[in-house]
Amino acid sequence: MKTLFLGLLLGAFVCAQSPAPFVPNYDEAKVGTYTLPDPLTMNDGSKVTTAQQWRKRRAELLQLFAENVYGRTPTTKSKLRFEEKLRDANALNGLATRREITVHLTAKADGPKMNLMLYVPNKRTGRVPAFLAMNYGGNHAVHADPKITMATAWMRDNKDNGIVNHRATEKSRGVEARRWPIEMIVQRGYGVATFYYGDLFPDHNDGRPNSIIPHLTKDEDWNAIGAWAWGFSRALDYLERDKDIDAKRVAVMGHSRHGKAALWAGAQDERFAIVISNDSGESGAALARRNFGETVWRINTSFPHWFNAKYKTYNDRVNELPVDQHEILALIAPRPLYVASAVEDQWADPRGEFLSALAASPVYKLLGKDGLSAMQMPGIHQPVFSTIGYHIRAGIHDVTNYDWEQFLNFADRHLRQT
Ligand code: GCU
Repeated sequence: MKTLFLGLLLGAFVCAQSPAPFVPNYDEAKVGTYTLPDPLTMNDGSKVTTAQQWRKRRAELLQLFAENVYGRTPTTKSKLRFEEKLRDANALNGLATRREITVHLTAKADGPKMNLMLYVPNKRTGRVPAFLAMNYGGNHAVHADPKITMATAWMRDNKDNGIVNHRATEKSRGVEARRWPIEMIVQRGYGVATFYYGDLFPDHNDGRPNSIIPHLTKDEDWNAIGAWAWGFSRALDYLERDKDIDAKRVAVMGHSRHGKAALWAGAQDERFAIVISNDSGESGAALARRNFGETVWRINTSFPHWFNAKYKTYNDRVNELPVDQHEILALIAPRPLYVASAVEDQWADPRGEFLSALAASPVYKLLGKDGLSAMQMPGIHQPVFSTIGYHIRAGIHDVTNYDWEQFLNFADRHLRQT
């Protein structure tokens, strides 16, 4: 009895010191039961049956996501200024013209800025469609080209990748190139635009003071995912001014945390012609109500700077969230949306991503589109190219050439010039 008592006491002490480690559920039988909120029911309970009514519901959903998940995007229209810093007409051995553009994000000369890098195929007859995606390690990480200006912003230390004292060193050139088949994209006739996500919000818990947020709002509610999504829209503001790009045919693509931001950007900003989520998982494409892999509690605990304060109040009552992630996908409708999963990326809940895409379909159908045509989760490497596209590939959490090939095929189908 005494030993038991001591054991319990010790157990309680250990618990108080270090909380029990998070054990993700990977058993489909233990996912739990849930009822998804209906994207086609208004807050007052009335049903949405016409495209006009959907416009109202769309506004409601945007507000619900802003209030409960991503935080409110400031409405201040900042006066942007674009400055072309560098032009290399012979990039990729003559395949493309590569430019670097500084985007000044406020009217202040010494205010925050983001560095956009743009590849435009040299073989083109008119304006080209383009992919826009953020990078994790600075523009110089996406290709080994020594002429690319090295990022100077804060980065997470990573000796293997050449990040020392939170700054990039020469060793970091091209470390992300594996994920960026730029030659292939350019050869397929598309431009590629990219910027370092840390230009908008350095990705750590105390990143806010050095982010763009204090320059734009006093609202405590806006956080990193919102700031990154905002950055996507500012990059599109630039692309709209660029004479080589057809800004009406820009696909915004994001991997993982960038995928969460790409979805929120695409939901809010209807100028994006296509939205692509790659392995975006929890609080991205995957259904929050499914207890599988990462959970709302876990994401809010590991990354408190990503979402707003109210989202944290749902950590242990996810069924009470007024929205679920199929509704962020529905906000892309009727525009083409592509959701990509990887079979070994169970943390991101591939089935939850598929089911979410399926549950967004009724909104696409209301708007006269086909939604996701597969009713069952397709097998590995069997991409579906309906207005909502989907694939699951072999392998781990990553962006591979296979993923890009599908994005290109999807874009060819849906962005073909008329
Ligand atoms: C973590 C996080 C995910 C996120 C991923 C990434 O694994 O839990 O939610 O998508 O990082 O961005 O790579």
